[in-house]
Amino acid sequence: MTETTSKTIERHKKLERNVALLGVFAFLAVTVGGIVEIAPLFWIDNTIEKVKGVRPYSPLEQAGRDIYVREGCYVCHSQMIRPFRDEVERYGHYSLAAESMYDHPFQWGSKRTGPDLARVGNRYSDEWHVQHLKDPRAVVPESVMPMYAFLADKELNAGDMKASLTALYRVGVPYTKEDIDKANDDLKAQADPNADAADLQKRYPKAQVRDFDGNPARLTEMDALIAYLQVLGTMVDVNSAAAQEDLATEKGR
Ligand code: HEC
Repeated sequence: MTETTSKTIERHKKLERNVALLGVFAFLAVTVGGIVEIAPLFWIDNTIEKVKGVRPYSPLEQAGRDIYVREGCYVCHSQMIRPFRDEVERYGHYSLAAESMYDHPFQWGSKRTGPDLARVGNRYSDEWHVQHLKDPRAVVPESVMPMYAFLADKELNAGDMKASLTALYRVGVPYTKEDIDKANDDLKAQADPNADAADLQKRYPKAQVRDFDGNPARLTEMDALIAYLQVLGTMVDVNSAAAQEDLATEKGR
């Protein structure tokens, strides 16, 4: 052993045997490592590749999402299809980062008592959802999902959607001033088959406009929740050529 190495070992011994000193050095090491990893995120333009079709939720979808969170649907349902063959065959194309970029808080979930819902949109009819949410066992006899029949009787009381959209805007969801100003009207228009929704659909492409709960006379929590379920996974056309191109760039990163 050379003299310098034994000196280094001697110094290291001091460091390892002194808790306070070791603590200080460990703290420094973690701090430097942390800065090196985290700081660049503040300067690079984006950390999520943009994908065509992803848009902020319409006010009705957002109100439905709030109900989803309130009822704790995430306790049994994930919204994150992993890129494994069994999942892709069962649920569809794996989830893209961009598809949940406007989710606050995100609903990836960590438990699947029920199936993943990331692409459940347009898979079932509204009537199926109404029946299933009212009494899951009426359509899936072995289901252990709770009944949510009360949603159909509860008037949608979403509060001021302008305030909700403004809050989301502040954390980075790109709602326009027009979206925010018209939020409360948009909320009602999307579930009203007689409303002129051309303007809404221009601002929220592919937004589905209809009465969702089977009772056009009332705007219920059921309307909002189903509007939300029906949009899940439908914004990006994952099978179109253009989307494939975007995916290629995402993979190439
Ligand atoms: C206690 C766990 C549990 C909770 C909480 C729960 N679910 Fe489920 N869910 C299930 C199970 C299990 C299934 C599969 C059987 C079935 O279809 O009912 C399911 C199925 C579903 C399906 C059909 C999915 C498919 O691809 O077939 C939808 C949609 C759904 N749930 C929505 C919801 C919503 C919305 C909520 C909250 C209001 C919710 N669930 C809360 C357990 C749960």
